[in-house]
Amino acid sequence: MKETVLKKFAEVFGEEEGVKAYFAPGRVNLIGEHTDYNGGHVFPCALTIGTYGAARRRTDNKLRFYSMNFGKLGVIESSLEELTPSGDAGWTNYPKGVMWAFGEKGMKVPWGMDLLLYGNIPNGSGLSSSASVEVLTGYILRDFFGFEVSNQELALIGQYAENNYNKVNCGIMDQFAIAMGKKDNAIFLDTADLSFTYAPIALEGAKIVIASSNKKRGLGDSKYNERRSECETALAELQQAVKINSLGDLDEETFEKYQSAVKDDVRRKRAKHAVFENRRTIRAVEALKARDVALFGQLMNASHVSLRDDYEVTGRELDTLVEEAWKVEGVIGSRMTGAGFGGCTVSIVKDEAIDTFIEKVGRAYQEKIGYEADFYVVEIGDGPVTL
Ligand code: GLA
Repeated sequence: MKETVLKKFAEVFGEEEGVKAYFAPGRVNLIGEHTDYNGGHVFPCALTIGTYGAARRRTDNKLRFYSMNFGKLGVIESSLEELTPSGDAGWTNYPKGVMWAFGEKGMKVPWGMDLLLYGNIPNGSGLSSSASVEVLTGYILRDFFGFEVSNQELALIGQYAENNYNKVNCGIMDQFAIAMGKKDNAIFLDTADLSFTYAPIALEGAKIVIASSNKKRGLGDSKYNERRSECETALAELQQAVKINSLGDLDEETFEKYQSAVKDDVRRKRAKHAVFENRRTIRAVEALKARDVALFGQLMNASHVSLRDDYEVTGRELDTLVEEAWKVEGVIGSRMTGAGFGGCTVSIVKDEAIDTFIEKVGRAYQEKIGYEADFYVVEIGDGPVTL
């Protein structure tokens, strides 16, 4: 892939010295959904698929962008003077947002660049193609200009850019999973204080299979921000009754005890999901440590039910993929992953059942939904690298 992006770079921008190639992964979350903005735990991992970039520093303020995924858009030109937050969804606003965010953090980007990207994660699929581009851009800026930032800070800058430049109120999970990825490990992250541990994913005889619903989703136009504010209101109501900083501070029993403080049925369901999902995530990681993959799978299934019934972020496409997966023998667990409203599911499937899984779930999906799903047997990879 390195050769592919370098060759295309030369074709698009003209062959010159100083071009370097980079990679940043996508991510999949195994469990802990919609908990990262509620002070809860998440358990994502970086993938070996992601975004490849070829970049070259310039000696002026110009920015030139080209995406091999959106080839028909051609070269998009801008400049460091034109970094204005707009919330407009064009893809160049992700790298531009990160350049802007470095400036906001006191690290003004001194020179422009030519940047070519190629992503082999389907964009809009819920595998964090945008966070992948953000972390990749931050990694390149650090490499080009010597900014003293850790990978963890690259994650925070990416999130800052997405929140303030792209106006998507996302949590820290995606950027963190990507910037801090470690081969064959998932990251057990407490979003309340960013403390984390790596947990080896030894599935012995099973693999992670991602199914893409091919229903496109944009965080901005989804109900993501609405869910966030529902949780914020529920938290404020609960704080009238019990001393907590976030929904992640509650266990199930305490929530049950004080839940009537939340004055609206829908909001109460949202808060319940956040509380129970956080506890499920903690329990799932314990199960994995105890090598109880079956229990891990059951908790994944329970996570989906909660996202479907209480958080209401699944929809027909994701429910079909998951409910069909549950019917297949050899499926240890299956759930939607990411923000929801389209995007992907993640399943743990025994090796010998993978072909049947893809065939059966694929056929049922096509019959019910009317178009195809795509399947990826994935591996857990490292964070960003220079190629
Ligand atoms: C998106 C956001 C994350 C997280 C998930 C839901 O991927 O970017 O911060 O909130 O949705 O778990």
